[in-house]
Amino acid sequence: MNDTHFAYNRDMWDGYVARGNEWTTPVSPETIAAARRGEFSLLLIEKWPIPDDWWPPNLAGCDVLCLASGGGQQGPVLAAVGANVTVFDASPRQLAQDRLVAEREGLTLRTVEGDMRDLSALADASFDLIVHPISNCYCPDVLPVWRECYRVLRPGGVLLAGWMNPCVYILDFFKIDDAGIIEVRHKLPYADVTHLTPDELDRMRREGTAFEWSHSFDEQLGGQLAAGFVLTGFKEGRDGRNLEAEYLPTQFASRAVKPPLPS
Ligand SMILES: C[S@@+](CC[C@H](N)C(=O)[O-])C[C@H]1O[C@@H](n2cnc3c(N)ncnc32)[C@H](O)[C@@H]1O
Repeated sequence: MNDTHFAYNRDMWDGYVARGNEWTTPVSPETIAAARRGEFSLLLIEKWPIPDDWWPPNLAGCDVLCLASGGGQQGPVLAAVGANVTVFDASPRQLAQDRLVAEREGLTLRTVEGDMRDLSALADASFDLIVHPISNCYCPDVLPVWRECYRVLRPGGVLLAGWMNPCVYILDFFKIDDAGIIEVRHKLPYADVTHLTPDELDRMRREGTAFEWSHSFDEQLGGQLAAGFVLTGFKEGRDGRNLEAEYLPTQFASRAVKPPLPS
């Protein structure tokens, strides 16, 4: 991503916070109180709470990185469960939502601002778990993300990731939004910045919409494997609020493990 695109998306996410987008809305005191009792449910993809056997056996005391996961959601919940949480995100206002919940609830968590492709602010082998909800569609290349995830996880550490089905990007999103029409328009790999007309890009800027990139299965699953991970779980899902979800799965979740050191 050139710096212009990174800065554009950072500012768009700051704008989503100002407008109260659902992925920027902090969890309630009731959700935190329940998490303190060990009752919690988090999503990587729509309508599919992360199952018990995807989590490490004991989250209390776990070093957890919530990657591109600001908004006062996953981070504070996992902190309330007892994990040592770092939330990493591009958007200062998204990270402020995490600090807001932490201060409101007396929780401790660390926030780090940056680009998910460069986790150099985080030490090698310093996390047991990474929670990475759908967000790499806002980044042009994901292979550096998987390499960095591998580096910062300890051997035996777990990577839980959500990501978009690349096939949805063949569709004309303006036709879906404006007229409820499903029409194939784009060739993959897709990027807003290369596939849309200048007028359409202006519309995105006016409406405050972040730019997206499609990522193939080669990049998502192949990229995790190439980084050294072992895949241990996979799930497809549909965001039922979107018309295209009537036609195909729109989102995927994966569980991967950095192999433990030989004993
Ligand atoms: C859909 S939100 C995900 C967070 C949310 N808490 C959730 O439950 O899914 C996408 C997040 O990715 C972040 N983001 C976008 N591009 C990024 C980048 N290059 N590096 C780090 N974070 C990025 C945004 O600021 C935003 O907080």
